[in-house]
Amino acid sequence: MIHRNFTPFPILTTERLTLRQLTMSDEQEIFTLRSDREINKYLGRPACTSMEEARSFITKINDNITKNAALYWAITLKDQNALVGTICLFGFTEDNDKCEIGYELLTPFQGQGIMKEAAEKVIDYVFNMLKVQKIEAFFHKDNLDSVKLLDKLSFHNSNEVDEENPELIGYYLMNSIK
Ligand SMILES: CC(C)(COP(=O)(O)OP(=O)(O)OC[C@H]1O[C@@H](n2cnc3c(N)ncnc32)[C@H](O)[C@@H]1OP(=O)(O)O)[C@@H](O)C(=O)NCCC(=O)NCCS
Repeated sequence: MIHRNFTPFPILTTERLTLRQLTMSDEQEIFTLRSDREINKYLGRPACTSMEEARSFITKINDNITKNAALYWAITLKDQNALVGTICLFGFTEDNDKCEIGYELLTPFQGQGIMKEAAEKVIDYVFNMLKVQKIEAFFHKDNLDSVKLLDKLSFHNSNEVDEENPELIGYYLMNSIK
């Protein structure tokens, strides 16, 4: 089994962005991301109803990072601390062959290429540093913004139907680094 170690936390940077670890100071933005109707339209998760819930979510996320079970980045504009979105990796298989990716942006920060820029960096990290062979993404079939993003990132439609939730579609990207 390949050893994953997410401590120290891997801060990533791109031309416009810094991807850092979540802190309690992100509680307001996490609350908005997890309660805003438009952002959550296709996510099928219970809406966050209190700041306390947002805080326990942040604690749970950082515990999972300490256990090397998942990674979750706060996306920020360079030189600004405020979270504008998040991107995460989870569902690592025991042999480290496969993981899943998830992402979300606060509404005012959509439509600027921010997620594409963040995801390209995270994908590079997954394939080059974690040596994972396959990244999967599952989302609602009507989530066209997600389809557009994954198309731009060269993901493929797996064309497999999830029997537990036929409304979900799966996309994947293989590691082509030899
Ligand atoms: C999925 C989601 C992250 C996509 O966000 P997004 O901002 O559309 O994605 P991108 O970062 O790729 O930006 C693309 C848009 O920015 C535009 N853009 C502007 N400046 C740009 C730049 N410098 N570079 C690239 N694109 C740019 C593109 O033209 C494109 O616009 P279009 O959608 O009108 O064609 C967003 O819709 C979201 O948060 N949805 C809710 C959560 C969700 O459903 N998550 C997926 C399930 S895990």
